[in-house]
Amino acid sequence: MILVGVDGSQAALEAVGWAVREARLRDTGLHIVHVMPAWPLEMAEDAPYADVGRWMRDGAASMLTDAVERAREEDGRVRVESLLLPGDPRLVLIETAKEADLLVVGSHGLGGFSGMLLGSVALGVAGHTTCPVAVIRNLPARARGEVVLGVDGSPCGRGAIEFAFAEASLRGVGLRAVHAWSRPIAGCGPFALESAQETAGGERRLLAEALAGWSERYPDVKLVEQVGHGHPVEVLKNASAHADLLVVGSRGRGDFAGLLLGSVSHSLLHHAACPLIVAPAAALRQT
Ligand SMILES: Nc1ncnc2c1ncn2[C@@H]1O[C@H](COP(=O)(O)OP(=O)(O)OP(=O)(O)O)[C@@H](O)[C@H]1O
Ligand SMILES: [Mg+2]
Repeated sequence: MILVGVDGSQAALEAVGWAVREARLRDTGLHIVHVMPAWPLEMAEDAPYADVGRWMRDGAASMLTDAVERAREEDGRVRVESLLLPGDPRLVLIETAKEADLLVVGSHGLGGFSGMLLGSVALGVAGHTTCPVAVIRNLPARARGEVVLGVDGSPCGRGAIEFAFAEASLRGVGLRAVHAWSRPIAGCGPFALESAQETAGGERRLLAEALAGWSERYPDVKLVEQVGHGHPVEVLKNASAHADLLVVGSRGRGDFAGLLLGSVSHSLLHHAACPLIVAPAAALRQT
C-alpha cells in the first residue's frame, strides 16, 4: 500500500497524482491521509465551541474528498481509501507508514512562506520512516526516461540501490548511478594529474563494487555508471535535472551519532530538480 499525506494544498494534490501513478505501477492500493489535532475529533457535540470542532472536521472531510477525486481523475483503476487521523502530522504519518511500502508527501503545504523550499512535515518524515519517503517537487512536465541513484558506497545505501533498480525496472527506464567525490588532489604538476586519475579510478571501483550483483538481478535495467568530481549535492542536483526521480539513502558515510538524515539527503530535500526518494538503510519491504 502507498500512503500519501494531504493538507489541502496544491502541492499535496500533486503528490496524490504522483502517488496514484506509482500505486498503479506497483499494482497496489492508495491510502490518502489527513492528520489534524485530536480535539476537534474528540469534541462532544454539546461542548462549548463545538461549532469550531464541527467546522474543522467538515473542512478536513472536504479536503479528503477533493484528494480522492484528484486520485480518481488520475487513474480510476487504483483502489483508494481516505483516512482522517488525530495527532501531530509528522508522528502520525511516520507511525501509519509502518504498514506502507512508500510514504508520499509534497515538498511544501499550506503553511510556510513564499520562497520556503521545504515544509516541516516533509522534513520531519524523511529519514524517520521504516519505508522509503517520496518528496514531490519539480515534477517534470513529461517523462525523461531515467531514474538517478546517488551512491556513496556506504552499507546504508543498500536500501536506495534496491529501490532504484526496482523502480527503474517497473517504469521500464534506464538507471544512472552517480557517485561524486570531492577529496582534494594532493601535489601539483604531472604527479597531480596521475594522482587525480588514480583517485578517479578508485572512485569508479568503489561505485562498481557498491553496484555488484544488482544488474544480474535486474537484467532489464540499462545501467549507466557516472563518477563526478564535485560536492555530492551539486553533482546529484545537476543529474536530477534530467531525471524522473532521484533516489538517495537516508544517511551515508558521515557518522554523526543520532543523525537520522545525512547532510547530502537533507540538502537534496531542498534542492532536487525532480521528485526525491529517501530510502532507509534496510532493504525495501516486498510489495
Ligand atoms: N496535516 C497533514 N496531514 C497529512 N499530510 C500533511 C499534513 N501537513 C502536511 N502534510 C504533507 O506534507 C507536505 C508538506 O507540507 P508541510 O506542512 O511540510 O509544508 P508547509 O505547510 O509549507 O510548511 P509548515 O507546515 O512547516 O509551515 C504536504 O504537501 C502534505 O503532503
Ligand atoms: Mg504545513
